[in-house]
Amino acid sequence: MIRPYRSVLYIPASRARALEKAKSLPVDAIIFDLEDAVAVEEKANARALLRDTLIEGGFGTRAQIVRINGIDTDWGADDLAMIASAKPQAILLPKVNSAQDIEALAALLDANPDTADTEIWAMMETPEGILNAAEIAAAPRMAGFVMGTNDLAKDLGARTREAMVTSLQICLLAARAHGLACIDGVYNAFRDEEGLAQECAQGRDFGFDGKTLIHPAQVATANAVFAPSPEEIDLARRQIEAFEQAEARGEGVAVVDGKIVENLHVATARATLAKADAIATSEAA
Ligand code: COA
Ligand code: MG
Repeated sequence: MIRPYRSVLYIPASRARALEKAKSLPVDAIIFDLEDAVAVEEKANARALLRDTLIEGGFGTRAQIVRINGIDTDWGADDLAMIASAKPQAILLPKVNSAQDIEALAALLDANPDTADTEIWAMMETPEGILNAAEIAAAPRMAGFVMGTNDLAKDLGARTREAMVTSLQICLLAARAHGLACIDGVYNAFRDEEGLAQECAQGRDFGFDGKTLIHPAQVATANAVFAPSPEEIDLARRQIEAFEQAEARGEGVAVVDGKIVENLHVATARATLAKADAIATSEAA
């Protein structure tokens, strides 16, 4: 069963109202943040609030991902202890530079039966991390990449999205080579719907599964752009049908709308239908 990750909303773990609100938002996944969106003096309260909130539940089928502070920071150990009691689906490790960072976290999770099944996701947001994307993607427990475009822009001295395209695509290559989910970075101007829609469309066309979001106003756009459109679903059905008819005639190629359809196009068509089904299933739940 594939899981949709069209809309992946950050929520600062310190914000009780936002945590509550998320239970009714149509997001595919939530990143509960203990790292940069939480001030130093709020870290302990945020961690306690998040533990209680996750144990109480109410988030339905939404994927639950907790962004912890780095394990070598003052808060890392306490964040991990919280993970063991609240048991989210995944830990999101910030500022990952190498496979060793993941191996170190995986060893800590291995040592505790309460975290036997916890996935690891990596923030890809440092130049060193991007250069090591392939080994990071291959590391134990890895299930997803999240692009940290704000940190990356800072470290690169990049001022435009265009300047980060190489980094985005390196991470996509590594994620696809190792079967990980790959989620695009945030769009900071959260009231600019048109700009968000354009950036979502670009990310979708690159191959991202979805977009990280910072505000509820961004959810509908990401859900719409990253879902297969009715036209795409219709085309996928027609391609599969035409190819099956060609096969029945002993032929390996069909033609639909003036374009050839081979085995590989049928695989893409089936993936499109599977994604549409997964979205429909999660929306019905
Ligand atoms: N997740 C869930 N709910 C959120 C939310 C979020 N990320 N951001 C805002 N909300 C809620 C608010 O609690 C408020 O709910 P209410 O109507 O029940 O009171 C409602 O949405 C409207 O919020 P609004 O007043 O428009 O925004 P704000 O001024 O309170 O907050 C931000 C704006 C940008 C500070 C806030 O959206 C935020 O903190 N986003 C996340 C930032 C983050 O996590 N960064 C780290 C990764 S880049
Ligand atoms: Mg960051």
